[in-house]
Amino acid sequence: MSAPFTRMDVEALRAQTPGTHGTVHFNHASASLPSSATLRAITDHLEREATHGPMEAGAAAADEADQARTLAAALLNAQPDEIALTGGTSQGWGTAFAAMGEWRAGERILVGRHEWGGNLAAMYLAARRNGVSIDVIPSDVSGAVDPEALAAMLDERVRLIALTWLPANGGLINPAEAIGKVARRHRIPYFIDAAQAVGQLPVDVARIGCDVLSTACRKALRGPRGTGLLYVRRDFLHRLTPPLVDRYSAPIDAHGAPILREDAGRFESAETSVALRCGLANALREALTIGVPDIRARIDHLATRLREQLSEIPSVTLLDDGVERSGLVAFNAAGRDAHRLQSELATRGISIGVSGVPYTPLDMQARKLNQVARASVSYLNDESEINHLVDTLRALMR
Ligand SMILES: Cc1ncc(COP(=O)(O)O)c(C=O)c1O
Repeated sequence: MSAPFTRMDVEALRAQTPGTHGTVHFNHASASLPSSATLRAITDHLEREATHGPMEAGAAAADEADQARTLAAALLNAQPDEIALTGGTSQGWGTAFAAMGEWRAGERILVGRHEWGGNLAAMYLAARRNGVSIDVIPSDVSGAVDPEALAAMLDERVRLIALTWLPANGGLINPAEAIGKVARRHRIPYFIDAAQAVGQLPVDVARIGCDVLSTACRKALRGPRGTGLLYVRRDFLHRLTPPLVDRYSAPIDAHGAPILREDAGRFESAETSVALRCGLANALREALTIGVPDIRARIDHLATRLREQLSEIPSVTLLDDGVERSGLVAFNAAGRDAHRLQSELATRGISIGVSGVPYTPLDMQARKLNQVARASVSYLNDESEINHLVDTLRALMR
């Protein structure tokens, strides 16, 4: 498909997406709408399991299920042996973090202000157990994590730099590559939470220079819920010992010794949903076929339009930091609880999300926010849906 999307391209994609027929979906940052073909890839495999037996069907579909790994590697500019197929962002991130081993008193972790609350929880527990300090990297005037401020904070005690690339509570895009340059220069492990980025922005792990990158696949990628990708740089892998292993990730050899896999499969388990992997393979193929640069351009176009229209409603305040912005449009409406707004829109057939303090505690506290409403766009949305959302909001706020 050539850039930009034509009206016919969008209509065709929507025709192949059942969720666009009955609802107006602006909640892609929570979970997007899978295509009919992705849905079929899942249900076809479940039928094969019921008909032939799950193990037998799994063996027959092993190549297709494993395509998810190869396609994910192509999407991230990684090698297939650097990709583990996981159940979601936090699962991948948390397992990689736990695999760093014990922490020593006095060691430091540096985090961006927008770090996902689940990752922070894992870091806080390790910090509390071991006397590790967690320091927040200052942001620049636009709200983005400042690579120069990061460089000024470094010393030999820093053992991890953690960045949430695109926050859950606003449209900011953090400078992942510039931070990677600092991390590489100082040889400090660098973890990225890319839950909101993968499928929305072009991602090149080699350029970014991260050691670990984790994402869910149910968001911009439109994969099935319960799927995720964990990238681990090949040269970093040997430094990670997963806290949980099984016969797949660490099979016992002829001498009775567990042999940890040499690839990112050391983060996978023997038992998994083959049906979801088949669905994920299809979603990845679709994203690669459409082309992520085109997806990015269309999302940017739609999100800019939505921001412009929302800014014309007097009682609405836009809450997106940053200069370059994602498809996640954060706002609050004066005097209106965001959850109430969400349910009022839901009764009118429009889905949006709400982000609370636990999602991004450091940034919410820094900006004195309790909650934000978030309308997140996909390339599947069209202009008429944006008009409908804005008109409905305007009517609700009258
Ligand atoms: C930036 C970010 N990180 C992590 C997560 C959590 O992802 P998961 O539910 O797949 O663990 C989310 C979910 O919305 C998110 O927005």
